[in-house]
Amino acid sequence: MKKIVIALDGHSSCGKSTTAKQVAAELGYAYIDTGAMYRAVTLYFLDHHISLTNPKEVSDALKNIDITFHYNPKTGRNETYLNGLNVEDEIRKMYISNQVSEVSVVPAVRHAMVAQQQKMGKRRGVVMDGRDIGTAVFPDAEVKIFMTADVDTRAKRRQQELLVKNQLVNLTDIKQNLEKRDLIDSTRAESPLRRAEDADLLDTSHMTIDEQVEFVMNKVASKLLEQ
Ligand code: DC
Repeated sequence: MKKIVIALDGHSSCGKSTTAKQVAAELGYAYIDTGAMYRAVTLYFLDHHISLTNPKEVSDALKNIDITFHYNPKTGRNETYLNGLNVEDEIRKMYISNQVSEVSVVPAVRHAMVAQQQKMGKRRGVVMDGRDIGTAVFPDAEVKIFMTADVDTRAKRRQQELLVKNQLVNLTDIKQNLEKRDLIDSTRAESPLRRAEDADLLDTSHMTIDEQVEFVMNKVASKLLEQ
């Protein structure tokens, strides 16, 4: 059967990655978490004190960054590696969430990540989640979904996710972080977060994960039947 690209874009913490993972597993597709790539770059920049306003420092740093994903059978998830080191837990911490949108605004960072994502998906058969997949990375994606949910619901879900990882963060801080990231992500000059004209809208405020997966799988099924 023909393999397609499924682009899941949308606001922070509205269930994109959980939905994307399950859809990828059902289809036997690769799942690529593009947010994790921007988070890994942020971690590298912080560790190496890279100044975002110094183009030479940024481009030299980008040449030294290698991001890969490897499946961990113990956790049952695809984990993020930065230059061979597992950074999956580190990149989910709040100090990264607080800086990642500023790093993602830098055009050189975006160009490097988009090029790598296009390479990862060039044989199709991928589910990619992010902010600009349907608009910039794969404008020709066969299925495009734009996900959102009200901010209070998103903040509560995010708090739960962090709690599972033993990180206790107060709800107000999480909500402020989400609102700040949404604003920076959707107002930046380079490939801002926006719904592609041909993307289906999925508001997950009152939906379970199973319902979200079903919504996407229905879109996939009708696309595959069309071909
Ligand atoms: O999906 P996430 O919350 O882990 O993403 C972290 C940040 O990375 C998000 O606030 C903006 C940035 N990002 C981006 O600019 N483009 C993408 N395709 C994915 C994420």
